[in-house]
Amino acid sequence: MQAGKIIYLSTEIKMKKKRILSGAQPSGLLHIGNYFGMIRRMIDFQDSSDLFCFIANYHSLTSINNKEELEKNTFNAFSDLLALGLDSKRSTVWVQSHVPAVTELTWILSNFTSVGLMQRSTSYKDKVANGLSPNMGLFSYPVLMASDILAFQSDIVPVGKDQKQHLEMTRDIAIKFNNTHGEVFTIPEVDIGENNEIIFGIDGKKMSKSYNNTIPIFGNEDYIKNQIMNIITDSAGLNEPKDIDTPLFKIYSLFLDEEGKNELKDRYLTPGLKYMSVKNELYDHVMDYFSKQRALKQNYLDNPDDIFDLMDLGSKKAEIIASETLSNVKKSIGMV
Ligand code: TRP
Repeated sequence: MQAGKIIYLSTEIKMKKKRILSGAQPSGLLHIGNYFGMIRRMIDFQDSSDLFCFIANYHSLTSINNKEELEKNTFNAFSDLLALGLDSKRSTVWVQSHVPAVTELTWILSNFTSVGLMQRSTSYKDKVANGLSPNMGLFSYPVLMASDILAFQSDIVPVGKDQKQHLEMTRDIAIKFNNTHGEVFTIPEVDIGENNEIIFGIDGKKMSKSYNNTIPIFGNEDYIKNQIMNIITDSAGLNEPKDIDTPLFKIYSLFLDEEGKNELKDRYLTPGLKYMSVKNELYDHVMDYFSKQRALKQNYLDNPDDIFDLMDLGSKKAEIIASETLSNVKKSIGMV
């Protein structure tokens, strides 16, 4: 009886899904670089793990000070993620400011965060070096981020390379707390996704809003078409073979399987290929690939209450976990 129980427990432990958490600041329109870089990875995690994903609107206060802009960006970012395939029922998807336990925890964690650690933040130092006059929100940005992660007892945090140091800080803060008050926090692992390919923009640089070289997923079709028409190609003549190590080939490949890629490669190497027709085809592929998602997004724009309901659902699910952590933390430090 006892042995049976032990076996049962150990399989249960093995089967327990890892909790994966990530957040994104709400900033402008999502593009195919965001999708093939991070978002698709998050969507895939839904099958194998317990996924937590939120819109970091408090973090955006460090860069946005316009009410309408922040409201609009938050609505858009949240509905974009859902339209692309994050599932509010299977996963927990919410807006950071809707779960106040996280900001309460931030205050407590700031007492386990040395000023020196914050001063060594490269993203903070870069911003100051670029002339930004820093406020306390920017300075303690990593403490809020630590709280986002620790409040949910996250096992793994997938982020871009630029966030690696923030994750190290989170671990430092959690370890310091646990050493002082017992094993209250799960120490999270960072998942940088080193194998993730860089998604190139229409000019061949990394696709990024700040380079203006993106192909957006949602919004105006003419703009999407125009961006595709502006993708850089080589200058080979009509009757010469074409270079596949160029932005048009790379971007098109994102939408193709191995067989499709080989076919495209053959067409590139056969004289007579017209770039204009490849671009028109790519435009059709992009519209076709995202047609369901674009329709869903339009549906959310037409029925914004659906989004507010899903925000509500997400914050309720998130609140349960964050409040439990907060309550354990408060007990362990002597807040009666
Ligand atoms: N700082 C992250 C970024 O700008 C966003 C973020 C906030 C985040 N809190 C987080 C990411 C917690 C992962 C986990 O990209």
